[in-house]
Amino acid sequence: MSIKHSLLEQAETAFSHAYAPYSNFRVGAAVLTRDGHVYTGCNVENISYGLTSCAERNAIFSAISQRGKIDIEAIAVVTESSVGGTPCGACRQVISEFGPKAIIYYKVHGETRETSMDQLLPAAFNDLG
Ligand code: THU
Repeated sequence: MSIKHSLLEQAETAFSHAYAPYSNFRVGAAVLTRDGHVYTGCNVENISYGLTSCAERNAIFSAISQRGKIDIEAIAVVTESSVGGTPCGACRQVISEFGPKAIIYYKVHGETRETSMDQLLPAAFNDLG
């Protein structure tokens, strides 16, 4: 199985664990580090809505909690199939800190697409070049 498919499959598993009773919008993410480890996360909501934590950041923070600083090679994001979508602005900023060259795989209406951090967050705050 390709890295892309394996990452998407692991993101699907995380998606199935999402706790999203308020928005009913589940998200799962899987992060691949350059040294070949995968960490997953799902969105976790709270009745105090603003405390919600996104899938992508949960995956990244889990990776760092277990490994220290990481270099993200790729991240797969799976959302409700009817919508699909790329990481939110806050998650883009966090991905850019730990994976400025990361490939982002995401699904729209069941079709897999891929993009880059250069496309998602051009002229990022950490980009001094
Ligand atoms: N959400 C994510 O987990 N990742 C994103 O990049 C966009 C939004 C979650 C937060 C909330 O639980 C739900 O999706 C609806 O916004």
